[in-house]
Amino acid sequence: MAATRTFSIIKPDATRRNLTGAVTKMLEDAGLRVVASKRIQMSREQAEGFYDVHRERPFFGELVDFMISGPVVVQVLEGENAVKANRDVMGATNPADADEGTIRKTYAESIEANSVHGSDSEENAANEIKFFFNDDELVG
Ligand code: CMP
Repeated sequence: MAATRTFSIIKPDATRRNLTGAVTKMLEDAGLRVVASKRIQMSREQAEGFYDVHRERPFFGELVDFMISGPVVVQVLEGENAVKANRDVMGATNPADADEGTIRKTYAESIEANSVHGSDSEENAANEIKFFFNDDELVG
């Protein structure tokens, strides 16, 4: 099967606890390869734009506040069936529902401070990658 790509964010709760390497190791152990990575401080406008689909949700304001509360690491991951492989190793959105051995079960603090974001479809992955990376930043 051909390799595909997905998009990942290591969230402020994880960067704050110095877990960038630990989370990335779990992604790599799940068969994913980091083909682009940068640590950034998101602006409010960027966070609002990235999560635009959630704008009407009651948690939107808190979600944006949290995502700009510290640095994040945005990454492009490549592997077989990358979207699903990433979602499987991330675990459920709410860590209380996440399976043993997943990133969120291991590290997440709450449904908001849940350590990682991952694209939920190949179409969204392509859009989310474009939101943060130029083509010349994807070096394979
Ligand atoms: P993420 O995959 O980044 O996409 C949207 C985020 O909203 C989600 O992870 C959660 O961290 C966050 N969130 C905060 N509160 C809720 C909630 N009640 N239901 C779903 N997502 C929530």
